[in-house]
Amino acid sequence: MAASQIQAFIFDLDGVITDTAEYHYLAWKKLAEELNIPFDRAFNETLKGVSRMDSLMKILNHVEPAPAFSAEELAHLAARKNRYYVELIQQITPQDLLPGIEVLLKDIKDRGIRIGLASASKNAMFVINKLGIACYFDEIVDAAQIKNGKPDPEIFLTAAKQLGSDPAVCVGIEDAEAGIRAIKSAGMFAVGVGTPDQMQEADYRVNGTAELAYPQIESAFFLKRKG
Ligand code: BG6
Ligand code: MG
Repeated sequence: MAASQIQAFIFDLDGVITDTAEYHYLAWKKLAEELNIPFDRAFNETLKGVSRMDSLMKILNHVEPAPAFSAEELAHLAARKNRYYVELIQQITPQDLLPGIEVLLKDIKDRGIRIGLASASKNAMFVINKLGIACYFDEIVDAAQIKNGKPDPEIFLTAAKQLGSDPAVCVGIEDAEAGIRAIKSAGMFAVGVGTPDQMQEADYRVNGTAELAYPQIESAFFLKRKG
């Protein structure tokens, strides 16, 4: 395979492969309301891709003065949100794969291109198993394996290393601003799923996963390399 061809795809999980972004939103909303902190979808956008504890800190700092909690209390609050979330993801089945995702995974695999997962979630393996798609992934990197969360590039660079691919010939797919920044900082081609406003820094953007297709992504990848 020529060095300029795409050698690996690295997928985000929540909001790209399945709509667990909605479950994270519902779980944080419940916790925030219990703490009397206003929480809406616009603010939730800033939490996408962000680790559990960093998300909690952002929520607490969303009001002034920020409520003060000890490290132990913070850990309990994060665990409480996770309980709400874990309750919601029990019901996931292969039917919950977002449109076009399984076709895309299969197409990439049939072309002999390697596939990785770069998820900030400690629940990633559970969700992947519920969806029944573990077989598509050559490497899975989750929050437990890295020190720095998105927008730091560490998770994407770790996935590329494990896949044995040069980041310059990797494509990352994300629905979060923090995730797009992580892909770009890793020196990869960034595919964004979302609105033009949310995905300003993406190299190629689609409105929804149903529009994700290998030929279009490859064309955009080559166009960028030429320009
Ligand atoms: C990311 C989500 O994938 O994982 C974030 O986009 C979430 O919303 C983060 O906070 C951490 O997930 P978890 O399951 O470890 O709390
Ligand atoms: Mg996501």
